[in-house]
Amino acid sequence: MRRLAPSLALLISSLVGAGCEAGAGYPQTTFRPVSEFGRIVNDVFYNTFNWTMGIMLVVIALILFAAFRFRERPDSPEPAQIHGNTKLEIAWTIVPAIIVVFIGVPTIQAVFDTQREPPEDALRVEVIGHQWWWEFRYPEYDIVTANELWVPTDRPVSLAMRSADVIHSFWIPRIGGKRDVNPLPRRREGVEPKHDNYLLFTVEEPGLYLGQCAEYCGEAHAIMRMTVRAAEQDDFAAWVERMRSGGPQTTGLPPARDPSAGALVVGAEQVPDQEGGERAVPAVAPAQVVGAPAPSQAQQQQCGQRPAPTGAGNPFRAPLPDVVLQQEGERIFLSSSCITCHAIAGTAAAGSVGPSLTMVGSRPWVGAGAAAMDHENLVAWIRDPESVKPGTLMPGTRTAGGGLPPTGLTDQEVRAVAAYLLSLK
Ligand code: CUA
Repeated sequence: MRRLAPSLALLISSLVGAGCEAGAGYPQTTFRPVSEFGRIVNDVFYNTFNWTMGIMLVVIALILFAAFRFRERPDSPEPAQIHGNTKLEIAWTIVPAIIVVFIGVPTIQAVFDTQREPPEDALRVEVIGHQWWWEFRYPEYDIVTANELWVPTDRPVSLAMRSADVIHSFWIPRIGGKRDVNPLPRRREGVEPKHDNYLLFTVEEPGLYLGQCAEYCGEAHAIMRMTVRAAEQDDFAAWVERMRSGGPQTTGLPPARDPSAGALVVGAEQVPDQEGGERAVPAVAPAQVVGAPAPSQAQQQQCGQRPAPTGAGNPFRAPLPDVVLQQEGERIFLSSSCITCHAIAGTAAAGSVGPSLTMVGSRPWVGAGAAAMDHENLVAWIRDPESVKPGTLMPGTRTAGGGLPPTGLTDQEVRAVAAYLLSLK
C-alpha cells in the first residue's frame, strides 16, 4: 500500500488539476457554460461523472482491500467455501438501482428542460448550414448575416436550423448544441416537411464565443466555424440598426442608395452634402500625393468622390488614402460578378448563394474561420480562396470555383475590394 500511495496521489492530483484547468485557455470548453442550456447539460455531465467516480473509488478500494487482506501466505489455510449470500445480493441489486434513479431522474428532467417550447418573447433566428459556412436570418428584423451569430443576453434565443446541402451539426460548446442541421427533404404531396431542428437557449454572459460544425460534411468541414457575439440589449439593438442600414458608410456617402442606380453607384447623384464630404476627407494626407501640390479642400472632395480608376494601364502611382481605396473597392465590387452571390445591405448587391457581407469587416475571420480578418488575408482570399480554404465553393480571380467562372479582377482591384470589405463595420 505504501508503495502504491505516491502514484495514487499523482493520479488524484492530476485529475483535480485537469478539472481546475478545464476552463482557462480553452475557448471551446463545455465546462464553463454561459447559457442556461449549457449549465443544464454541464450539470447532467457532472452528476453522472461524480456518481461513476464514486463507484469507481469504492470498487478500487474493495479490490485493493481484498487483494492485500486475503492475499496468499505460505501457511494460508483453505478459504471458507461459500455459495451465495442473500444479504449481499440484495444490497448490490438495490444500491445500483438507487444510483440509476439519482442519475436518470435529473437527466430526464434536463431533456425536458432543454426541449421546451420557446416563449413568446424569444428571438427567433433561422440557421442554415451551407458547405462550408453558416447563414443566420433574423426574420423579426429582416437581417441576414453569416458566420457570426449576434444574440442579446438575458433573452431566450430560439434557433430553427436546416441545411442547404448535406447534414451539418451546430455546436457552440459554451452555449449549447450539438444539434444536427438536416437538409430539407424532398417535398411530398400532402406531407408537411418538418425537418427543422430547434435549439433554445438564453445566454447569460456577454462575450465572444466560438463554435463550429461538428459533423463531417465534406472537404472544408474543419473550416466551418462560427462566432457568437452575446451583447447587452442596448448593444444588440445598436447592432441591429447598423445591420439594417448596412453600417456607417466609410466613404462618407449617405447610406441610403437608390437601388435603380444599379451596380455603378458612385455617380454624380451621390455628391454628399457638405457635412458628409467633410467627414470623408480628413484621411487625405497631402504628403501621400507624390509630386503634386497639396490638393485644395475642393479637390480632395473631388478626389474622394471620383477616385482614379484602377486596372490595366492605369495603376495607382502613389499610395492612396484609405477612403479613396475603399470607395474604389465599392465601385469595383458592385460592378463585378461578386454581387451575383453576395449581398450587402444598403447597396445593390443582393446575391444569396454566398454569405451575406453586410458589416463583414466586423467579423473576426475570413472564410468562416479560415484566417484572421485583415487586409492581407482578404486579398489572399479574394484572389485565390482555394489557397486559404481548400474546397471552398468560390471562384478566385484566375480560378473557377463552385461552378462559377473566375472573377477576373486585377491585383489592384482585389486590394481595393478588400479595403472596401474591411471598412464595412
Ligand atoms: Cu458542416 Cu461539417
